[in-house]
Amino acid sequence: MVYKVLISDPLSEDGIQPLREAENIEVTMKTDFTPEELALHIGEYDALLVRSQTKVTREIIEQAKRLKIIGRAGVGVDNIDLDAATEHGVIVVNAPDGNTNSAAEHTIAMLMSLARKIPQAFYALKHQKWDRKSHVGVELKNKTLGVIGMGRIGVEVAARAKGQRMNVIAYDPFLTEEKADKLGVDYGSVEDVVQKADFITVHTPLLKETRHLINKDAFEKMKDGVQIINCARGGIIDEDALYEAIVNKKVAGAALDVFEEEPAVNHKLLELPEVIATPHLGASTIEAQENVAIDVSHDVVHFLTGGLATNP
Ligand code: NAD
Ligand code: MLT
Repeated sequence: MVYKVLISDPLSEDGIQPLREAENIEVTMKTDFTPEELALHIGEYDALLVRSQTKVTREIIEQAKRLKIIGRAGVGVDNIDLDAATEHGVIVVNAPDGNTNSAAEHTIAMLMSLARKIPQAFYALKHQKWDRKSHVGVELKNKTLGVIGMGRIGVEVAARAKGQRMNVIAYDPFLTEEKADKLGVDYGSVEDVVQKADFITVHTPLLKETRHLINKDAFEKMKDGVQIINCARGGIIDEDALYEAIVNKKVAGAALDVFEEEPAVNHKLLELPEVIATPHLGASTIEAQENVAIDVSHDVVHFLTGGLATNP
């Protein structure tokens, strides 16, 4: 029996070696399928490997008659219809640890770029403007970073922010006062974090409960001049409310790696000079891409050849 594996988003070639080397597995890398083409061809495959670009919808899963396993080379599985996968007996595995460090480093890069207006200053200089007045920043030292979501990435971001001599206040439903003490951060409710922080960064999954967690009400409770970072998922922050809060000068700046709709090339937030952004690059390092591809490849090989996937 030869198992056919489709890789529909770009994955690290080194990372997928376990798949390429497996004897009874045939790998097809095809990263330009339209959703219609994917629905047409998915019936030929036993396994599908994706990043966040491929939307594995119910329509796709319904056409996937041979599909046994979907591997998500990354953390968030919000691009996969999990209910449809479960109904059709398709296992979904992700790679929860492989990109933690890269995402945390990207968040800190965004925090520092935001505080010192580095992208705006660089943009001006590229356009022959030696403008020192418009790009006065603020220090991070002694400022408070609010972290919402203290999972793998949130904890790493908090530790690095402390290295910048910041105070950290954090909320997570699973964070206890004792654990917060051990991590050297203050423990608070979402309200506490929102009211006390000078910078707020979100690191939750996108769930029903976290959609628009940072909304108009939350912005109203924040300090004037607060700055916002989202390197987790578009939709955790209400983009319309953020836009209003920036235009009304409540929010002094925002750094966004993720958007409700991606790609987000013509987004109104990108027209605001207070907003800096990257196109979902949090996990885009050589190391992270290799790590996550290795993790899901091992899982898929193991599962197809008779073992159990480690994190179904
Ligand atoms: P994780 O599962 O380790 O941590 C998520 C944390 O959020 C958990 O501790 C959970 O308890 C907490 N949480 C859940 N609901 C919450 C709520 N209502 N309020 C506060 N906290 C809540 O995940 P992670 O690896 O730290 O990833 C965090 C996010 O970052 C995910 O959305 C993931 O998809 C995203 N991510 C983005 C990139 C990128 O490229 N920008 C890269 C990696 C991960
Ligand atoms: C993730 O959830 O892991 C990130 O979105 C990274 C990615 O796969 O691009």
